[in-house]
Amino acid sequence: MTHSITLIKPDDFHLHLRNGEALKHVVKHTARQFSRAIVMPNLPTPVTTTIQAKDYRDEIIKGLDGIAFEPLMTLYLTDNTEAHEIEYAKQSGFIHGVKLYPAGATTNSDAGVSDIKKCYGALEAMEKLGLPLLVHGEVTDPEIDIFDREAVFIDTVLTPLIHHFPNLKIVFEHITTTQAVDFVRSAPANIVATLTAHHLLLNRNAIFTGGINPHNYCLPVLKREEHRQQLIKAATSGSEKFFAGTDSAPHAKSAKESSCGCAGMYTAYHAIELYAEAFDSAHSLNKLEGFCSIFGAKFYGLKTNTETIELTKESWEIPEFLPYGEEKLIPFRAGENCHWQLK
Ligand code: NCD
Ligand code: ZN
Repeated sequence: MTHSITLIKPDDFHLHLRNGEALKHVVKHTARQFSRAIVMPNLPTPVTTTIQAKDYRDEIIKGLDGIAFEPLMTLYLTDNTEAHEIEYAKQSGFIHGVKLYPAGATTNSDAGVSDIKKCYGALEAMEKLGLPLLVHGEVTDPEIDIFDREAVFIDTVLTPLIHHFPNLKIVFEHITTTQAVDFVRSAPANIVATLTAHHLLLNRNAIFTGGINPHNYCLPVLKREEHRQQLIKAATSGSEKFFAGTDSAPHAKSAKESSCGCAGMYTAYHAIELYAEAFDSAHSLNKLEGFCSIFGAKFYGLKTNTETIELTKESWEIPEFLPYGEEKLIPFRAGENCHWQLK
């Protein structure tokens, strides 16, 4: 008999949808599996105001062609974000977090924060209003080894930040290291973390297997196997502090397969199936629903979804590429089999 499981319809607590033509190609992939998603604000013109977030939200909803899905919008924190912008954001009811990108850390992050102290006014307002800070937790200092940037961020930025704003709700996004898992585990309840499917499934060897593989390059970069095992342990622990955020980040094939390829993996096409695979490998499918459908909503103060989805243990072939306008979009593990399938 085929093995199948039913889950409360999940939410994706970290997603890049892009805008314009790209958005139209990707948004329905997410909406097929997820009820809601926290939408990243790192557009080429960053979403720094509530007015921009409203326009972006309208564009996303238009791209859905009537499919039910709720985009949970975020603002992009800059050195100049003022407390009153945070108040507007909170009042809007559709903005659910503010994203901290250290300037230059990743794709479209040039307008990010150069010194966190410049944001203290905004952070104070967020702490007071209960609006979460979503953190890309890597330092940008070129002197720091790329594999250590998350651990160094914990010591030099996150720890002092928490000390200064003890009641600020913080999501340490897409964590990749043992240090981050340990940090979140021992931090107070207002500090949580998201985990991607790709960091649960791959270690850093995947970037170099049989030659350099640009489609397995993302930020934070994949880490050693010992770290991946700690991520699996955290995800399947049943702790409410760890929940799903795919960090699915579409880039055209030509932008990935280039002499200076972009960071980002496209997992939105089959994200829930990939998470099911990761949990199944750890014999922890019974922990998948909390991780994908309950803990994140609770942290963000959202109602649990009422719909359900069904997943069956059946292999299917992931397409070699997906349509992306004039371009192609290469999904995670293109051409390989996925061992779980959404009904
Ligand atoms: C993201 C993107 O392409 O927008 N890339 C990635 O590798 N995850 C940006 C980010 O979240 O770092
Ligand atoms: Zn991201």
